[in-house]
Amino acid sequence: MKRTGKAITVYLGALGLLLGLYTVRGDYCEVNVCHNGATCVTGVGEDPFICICPDGFAGDTCNLTETGPCSPNPCKNDGSCEVIAPTRRGDVFNEYVCRCQPGFEGVHCQINVNDCANQPCVNGGTCRDLDGDYACQCPSPYVGKQCQQRCITLLGMEGGAIEESQISASSVHYGVLGLQRWGPELARLNNQGLVNAWTSATHDRNPWIEINMQKKMRLTGIITQGASRMGAAEYIKAFKVAASLDGVSYITYRADAPRRDKIFVGNIDNDSTKTNIFEPPIVAQYVRIIPVVCRRACTLRMELVGCELNVYSNTAGCSEPLGMKSRLVSDDQLSASSAFSTWGIDTFTWHPQFARLDKAGKTNAWSPASNNRSEWIQVDLQKTKRLTGIITQGAKDFGVVQFVSVFKVAHSNDGESWRVLKDKNTGNDKLFQGNIDNNSHKKNLFEPGFYARYVRVLPWEWHERTPLRMELLGCDD
Ligand SMILES: *[C@@H]1O[C@H](CO)[C@@H](O)[C@H](O)[C@H]1NC(C)=O
Ligand SMILES: *[C@@H]1O[C@H](CO)[C@@H](O)[C@H](O)[C@H]1NC(C)=O
Ligand SMILES: *[C@@H]1O[C@H](CO)[C@@H](O)[C@H](O)[C@H]1NC(C)=O
Ligand SMILES: *[C@@H]1O[C@H](CO)[C@@H](O)[C@H](O)[C@H]1NC(C)=O
Repeated sequence: MKRTGKAITVYLGALGLLLGLYTVRGDYCEVNVCHNGATCVTGVGEDPFICICPDGFAGDTCNLTETGPCSPNPCKNDGSCEVIAPTRRGDVFNEYVCRCQPGFEGVHCQINVNDCANQPCVNGGTCRDLDGDYACQCPSPYVGKQCQQRCITLLGMEGGAIEESQISASSVHYGVLGLQRWGPELARLNNQGLVNAWTSATHDRNPWIEINMQKKMRLTGIITQGASRMGAAEYIKAFKVAASLDGVSYITYRADAPRRDKIFVGNIDNDSTKTNIFEPPIVAQYVRIIPVVCRRACTLRMELVGCELNVYSNTAGCSEPLGMKSRLVSDDQLSASSAFSTWGIDTFTWHPQFARLDKAGKTNAWSPASNNRSEWIQVDLQKTKRLTGIITQGAKDFGVVQFVSVFKVAHSNDGESWRVLKDKNTGNDKLFQGNIDNNSHKKNLFEPGFYARYVRVLPWEWHERTPLRMELLGCDD
C-alpha cells in the first residue's frame, strides 16, 4: 500500500491514549494496518482511518512501544501509577509507585486482600470477599453485618401487642345462622374458645389476611395453625406471602431458585403449629397471608416472628457504602436506558457496569447514548434496603472533562412503578447538585431516607456528556 500525506499524531494526555492519524489511499481498514491489537476506524473526521492504540502502544499504526514506567500501566486492579522521579539520571531508570484501590495490596496491587481471612461471619454466615470489604450471607433468623443478631421476637398475635385494628382480611365467615363471626382479629396463635380463628367467606375466591405492623419491621418467620369448627378440622394446607412497605404495592415472596411465587407448606390438622422461615427475611410494614389450598375452609391462627429494624436518628449509623465500589453489587445488578460508545466503537462503550465510584480506565463510568432527561441508570439491590445517601463522580472521555451537575433519584420496590424523590419544601421533584469536575466525590443525603430494592439516578443537567460513577449509602435494615 502506498501512503501519502503527512502523519499527524495527537497525544491525548492523562489517560495515555494515543491516536495515530494517518492518511492512506486504498483499502483503509480492510487490510489490517493497525498493529498490536489496535482498532482501525474509518469515517472519523477528514482522515480515511485512524488507529486507536491499546495501552502501551503508540505511533500512527500503533507499532511503537510507549516508554516511561507508567506506560503501559504496570498496576493491576484499577491501581493508579505515579512516577516519583520523572527524570532519568545516568543509568537509573524512572521509578514509580502503584496506588492501590482499597482491598488490594502488593507492589503492583496484584494481591486481592482476603477480607474473609479472619472469618468475620458468625452463626453459620457465609463470607464473601469484596474489594476492600466483605459481606456475610446470614441464615435466617440471624441478621446484621456479621450475622451476630438473632431476629426471633414473637411480634404479638398471640401476646396481644398486635391490636385488633391492625388485622384485616378480604372477607369473614359468619357461622351458625350468622351468629358466629370468624373475624381476622381472632387469628391469634393458640386462641381458645368456640370461635377462635379467622375463616374467609365461602364465596371468597381470593382470600387474604393482613397484618399492619404500623412501622417497617423485619420478618424472619411465620407460625400457622388451623382450628376446628363444629367438630371438624379446618386449616390452610398451602399459602403464599405478600409484603408491602406502603399498603399500596405488594410483592409476593418468591423462591430463590425458580423465580416463582413461593408456596409455603401449611397445616395438617386443627391444632398443631407449623413454622416457616423467611430466607431471606422480609422487610415490610404490611404482610399478607394468601391461602392457596385449604382443608374445608381457609381457617387460620398465626404468629409472626421477627425484630425491630435498627432505629437510627436521621442517617447516622446507616451510611455504609452499599457495594458499587466493593462489587457487592454485581455487574448484572446494574442496568441503564442506554450506553454511549465513543466514536461508535464497542471497546469504548460506557456501560452501566462501569458506574462504580473511583473506577479507573479509559472508559470508566456509565454514560447514556444521548444527552437527554429520559436516560437513567438502575441499581437492583436484590432486597429491600434503607437508603440514606449517594456519592457521585464524573469522568473524562479521552481528555474531555464531563460530569452530571444535577440529577434526580427515583426508587421502586418492584422495578416497575417508580417514585421520584420530592423536595420536602416545594413538593416538586428533588434536584440534587452533582459534580463540578472530572474526579471529585459529591455526596448528597436523602432526607428523609427511604426503603427500596431498586434505585434509579436520572441525569438532569450536565457538562459535555453525562458520565456517572457512584456509590449508594445506606444499610441492610
Ligand atoms: C512503525 O511504522 C512506521 C510507518 O509504517 C515505520 O516508519 C516505523 O519504522 C515503524 N516503527 C517500528 C518500530 O516498527
Ligand atoms: C383437634 O386437635 C386435637 C389436639 O391434637 C385433637 O385431640 C382433636 O381430635 C382434633 N379435633 C378435630 C376435629 O380434628
Ligand atoms: C432520550 O433517551 C431515551 C432513553 O434512552 C431514548 O429512547 C430517546 O431516543 C432519547 N431521545 C433523544 C432525542 O435522543
Ligand atoms: C481531573 O481530575 C484530576 C484529579 O482530581 C485532576 O488532577 C485533573 O486536573 C482533572 N483534569 C481536568 C482536565 O480537569
